[in-house]
Amino acid sequence: MKEFNLAIIGLGNIGLEVYKNIKKNASDIKKKTGFKLNISQICAKDIKKNRGVKFSKNIFEKNIFKIINNPEIDIIVELIGGSEGVAKKVVFESIKKNKHVVTANKSLISKHGDALSILAEKHGVNLLFEAAVGGGIPIIRSIKQGLIANRLSHIYGILNGTTNFILTEMEKRNESFQTILKDAQKLGYAESNPTADVDGFDAADKISILSSIGFGSKIINKGFLVEGIRNIELEDIKFAKSLGYKIKLLAIAEKIGNKVKQRVHPCLIPNDIDVANIDDVINAVVVDGQPIGRTIYEGPGAGKGPTSSAVISDITSIMLGNDEFSFGLAPSAKKKMGLINFDNHISRYYIRFLTKDVSGVLSKITLALAKNKISIANLLQTPSKSGAANIMLITHVSKELNIKKVLRNLSINKKLFKKIVMIRVRDLKKL
Ligand code: HSE
Repeated sequence: MKEFNLAIIGLGNIGLEVYKNIKKNASDIKKKTGFKLNISQICAKDIKKNRGVKFSKNIFEKNIFKIINNPEIDIIVELIGGSEGVAKKVVFESIKKNKHVVTANKSLISKHGDALSILAEKHGVNLLFEAAVGGGIPIIRSIKQGLIANRLSHIYGILNGTTNFILTEMEKRNESFQTILKDAQKLGYAESNPTADVDGFDAADKISILSSIGFGSKIINKGFLVEGIRNIELEDIKFAKSLGYKIKLLAIAEKIGNKVKQRVHPCLIPNDIDVANIDDVINAVVVDGQPIGRTIYEGPGAGKGPTSSAVISDITSIMLGNDEFSFGLAPSAKKKMGLINFDNHISRYYIRFLTKDVSGVLSKITLALAKNKISIANLLQTPSKSGAANIMLITHVSKELNIKKVLRNLSINKKLFKKIVMIRVRDLKKL
């Protein structure tokens, strides 16, 4: 029986869970793949730390390059993280040494995935990254293999658990973004520097990877709209709720002709539509294509258990030899696709103006909207603290460029307009 020798590089929460679950499921892995899987080497920063596990003797190797150069190792699992530095070096060098690589590193794949997949093909090895998107949801393999017979048109969903948790808890507990962010940090859902999650970059990396796989395009990892949830306040969530909407951070990719419309931003979604009711750290991805139609995938989007599940599925795919192409097609077949200019996007828009409560403010807003051919569908004003007011409205279908012009014009008047929040409405029944 052929055996596969594995090395784990990075023994944090996820690395340790991968180690434990491989050990625990060793006989199942053998039965299901027909091969024995040995964890031969581990590289960790602190090898003396008590992790509550008894490791085999001599399993630790501090020098990463001794592992990469070890001819006995077949598969390297990179769990360091980050798109540059050590993680990048480990993945590139391992492939050059003809090792299969499994990684959970979305920023690395989003930035270097095209070059890495070309390199992997050249060296006849696999580069797999199921854990990079959707945590435990097997979304990459579902698109690459389960939906192989389809031409996909839309991929969208909630791809960041941290922001979904924050938005859910703000509504449930009637608390501010800052309070819930602190709780999320205490619970380990948000990093001490929460930028990647709350400003949308994590979701952007993930949708870049999914759109490349789904549409057969080279990775589009920059130049598209990325907005996070930092600006969203309780007022926005409450107003949305009163009109039958939930606010969710969505990552959206659509293929239109030979171009891609891709973006990450918060959306108002009607309560009765798919992802509106996906709460807490759960992720959900909707994939639409022909001939299948619309499919939806839901599950835990982060955490050591779900992530280790995805990492081990990649390892066993390598053992089975059933997942050759990182992005579902030969790297040379990937097309360079342009981005659609988002200024031409049309949707309904939610806008909240925190203004001075003085005469003439409302007319300034309505005049600016009218000048740009924007019509109001809903409007509400609520008094706020110390002579301020929140004016909240939802427009009829309008053009992004026109909305931007209005916001730019009004936001110049900082004395009157203290804050402007704009959220796109994703009314899937109509648009
Ligand atoms: N920070 C990520 C999230 C973890 O919140 O979804 C999984 O990629």
